[in-house]
Amino acid sequence: MTPKVSSSKIHSRIVGTGAYLPERIMTNADLEKIVETTDAWITERTGIRERRIAADDEFTSDMGAKAAQQALTMAGVTADEVDLIIVSTFTPDTIFPSTACRIQHAIGAKKAGAFDLQAACSGFLYSLVVADQFLISGLYRNILVIGSEKISSVLNWNDRNTCVLFGDGAGAVLLQATEQGRGLIVSDLRSDGGETEMLTIPASGCRMPVTQQILDQKSNCLFMAGKEVFKKAVTAMGGSMGHCLKSSGIDSQEIKWVVPHQANLRIIDALVQRLDLPREQVYVNLDRFGNMSAACIPVALHELNVSGKLERGDLILMTAFGGGLTWASAILEW
Ligand code: ACO
Repeated sequence: MTPKVSSSKIHSRIVGTGAYLPERIMTNADLEKIVETTDAWITERTGIRERRIAADDEFTSDMGAKAAQQALTMAGVTADEVDLIIVSTFTPDTIFPSTACRIQHAIGAKKAGAFDLQAACSGFLYSLVVADQFLISGLYRNILVIGSEKISSVLNWNDRNTCVLFGDGAGAVLLQATEQGRGLIVSDLRSDGGETEMLTIPASGCRMPVTQQILDQKSNCLFMAGKEVFKKAVTAMGGSMGHCLKSSGIDSQEIKWVVPHQANLRIIDALVQRLDLPREQVYVNLDRFGNMSAACIPVALHELNVSGKLERGDLILMTAFGGGLTWASAILEW
């Protein structure tokens, strides 16, 4: 499937952003006390220096609701005016009901529909594209798109291959229908279900219900074949971003900000090289937050927004890769 270039008169536009990062900071030095690792290894191999860890009584919906509330306040839109809430997460509060419904209740969005969308680390971009379709069709006017993750709750804290990589947090955008600007100009959503075992939480779904043996084996925790995922991630995101640029006729030099998934600085550097992107225009916050899966891109957008680095008309190229496998890219006009 080739990337989709929008030809609609109505566009979607981000009119508010929000982010919530838990208070507790876990540094690489803290991890040295938990598993056999070093600050030097983590920094050199990933670029991550610290990450946030949610409190025991702080859940994915709590973080998502806080980020969403900020996005609403910034947009000057009341909870009553929200038509739909889409939450991307692979660490929901419960398998059902959805985390989106919990956030709907928490923020008091009494007239909104709400559902979760699961595409792991690519989830925010998948959700953005789905929300865009509801807006350009004229069905809805205000949609909250949220990425929220409590990944610390599904990590095997004895596995140094994975526990050093992830962090908790939430980001949100309020997407509004408008006739101004160009909105979400092009998008590319992809998947490969033939590689599910590469990046997965094997147990706790119906395939492998939780038993004492499962808990003892930590099969209810995140597993990743890091090296294989690394290679796939570079090829997939590089190809997908290239497709978006080519099919929209946008030159990479016209892009104001590249906002990539924040899994590993070496992956980002490989993408910069592959697509000949100006490094200073590639936003990086993984040093402070690690990989927050679906929350990475909305948190980055919020940081760019509140630091005054975005102007209306700027083109933003986003890309992500995660479990599924899934990957996605999109270019939007701010
Ligand atoms: N500290 C010290 N040593 C470690 C650590 C650690 N935390 N983790 C692994 N090592 C060791 C390994 O055991 C191995 O040792 P060995 O050679 O004696 O066996 C050695 O370091 C090298 O391990 P590799 O796996 O080859 O390390 P690599 O350079 O590939 O880096 C990493 C590993 C960081 C996981 C990298 O492969 C990566 O970033 N992968 C992609 C992650 C990603 O993109 N995820 C995307 C989505 S996540 C989602 O969807 C939920």
